Amino acid sequence: MFDPNLTRQLEGVETPFYYYDLDLLKRTLETVKAAAEKRNFHIHYAYKANYNERILHWINAYGFGADCVSGNEVKKAIEIGVHPDKIAFAGVGKTDKEIRYALQQEIFSFNVESPEELLVIGELAVQEQRTARIALRINPNVDAQTHHYITTGLDENKFGIMPGDLPECIAVAKANPYLELHGIHFHIGSQILEMNVFKSLCIKVNEWNRWFEEHGIYLRTLNVGGGLGVDYKQPDEFPLPDFDAYFSVFEQFLEKRPNQEVHFEIGRAIVAQCGTLISKALYIKKGIKKHFVILDAGMTELMRPALYQAYHAIENISAKTGAVQLHYDIVGPICESSDSFGKEVLLPEVHRGDLLAIRTAGAYGEVMSSRYNLRDEIRHYFKETD
Ligand code: LLP
Repeated sequence: MFDPNLTRQLEGVETPFYYYDLDLLKRTLETVKAAAEKRNFHIHYAYKANYNERILHWINAYGFGADCVSGNEVKKAIEIGVHPDKIAFAGVGKTDKEIRYALQQEIFSFNVESPEELLVIGELAVQEQRTARIALRINPNVDAQTHHYITTGLDENKFGIMPGDLPECIAVAKANPYLELHGIHFHIGSQILEMNVFKSLCIKVNEWNRWFEEHGIYLRTLNVGGGLGVDYKQPDEFPLPDFDAYFSVFEQFLEKRPNQEVHFEIGRAIVAQCGTLISKALYIKKGIKKHFVILDAGMTELMRPALYQAYHAIENISAKTGAVQLHYDIVGPICESSDSFGKEVLLPEVHRGDLLAIRTAGAYGEVMSSRYNLRDEIRHYFKETD
């Protein structure tokens, strides 16, 4: 829970805003770094989860690379100071302009998603007279057992190369001296809490690793993507995901060859917990069947509940101790019925002007915000002790 001193500080800040606890972010980064380093794993932070510059600054300061999904994210990583050798560029729809830019920056890896894309990267590499280091993203057909909107590694998904297309990709890579095939890449989905899913992924990666060997290709890198989930239900009890348990699955089940590097692209698990959306109760509206708390934040600031029915813990951080507990539907001001943060939420009685904290909103929160209804730009408040 928020400490009361903090609530007092926040009371003067114009709402709604994202509150980022940079102390917690640093603690998370230390934990991930220690857990990865002892296994010699390489981490690329997935920029799509949150590209707030103060957050990126610290992620880079701890030495993490970048996993980017647009030319602008690659550019942002370069501006933040990430060494191009640590930048991976994924995505099913890379434009010529984005590919040229990334070639000029000599990034670590293009994670290629189709034979058609590989041909284009090859042609542009020749034109630019630069080597394109490539990893083939394979669709492994592993069920991530998560929300279907954030599942990416099934046959029916648009992501990755279908196994049947791999021989063609290898032929294209071999025929073009400007293409350097260094690895294979996988990403099966996000918010994965079941560690067995990662074990299934390892088994698939091993199969493909062997398949490439049998085809006379030695892979320098295995990139297993991201996807580690966080505890949205009990943000105080489990403030950090169990990175050790996660990495140890790969340590145990991934059959890497002596000189092979293992790469990860972690987004949510690094930033989710350090972000909270703070919003003010504008009105307590007594409907016929229920009470609504109408907030000054809506789906424009945090879209996850409206888009995926995602759960975020909500607290009334202005509540007085001993206040009566009531059920509320917590909604925003946007002209859409899906503009809701939670139904039948039990909270200490809410009064107009109270601050509500919508927790674990640091990943895929601010980055997915919009100006729909011509809303204000997102505001921020950072907690940083040193
Ligand atoms: N690598 C690739 C290729 C990805 O597509 C993603 C996420 C990641 C890494 C990072 O995954 P993470 O560690 O954050 O799970 N907007 C959704 C999540 C979309 C995830 C997209 N890809 C949400 O709010 O839940």
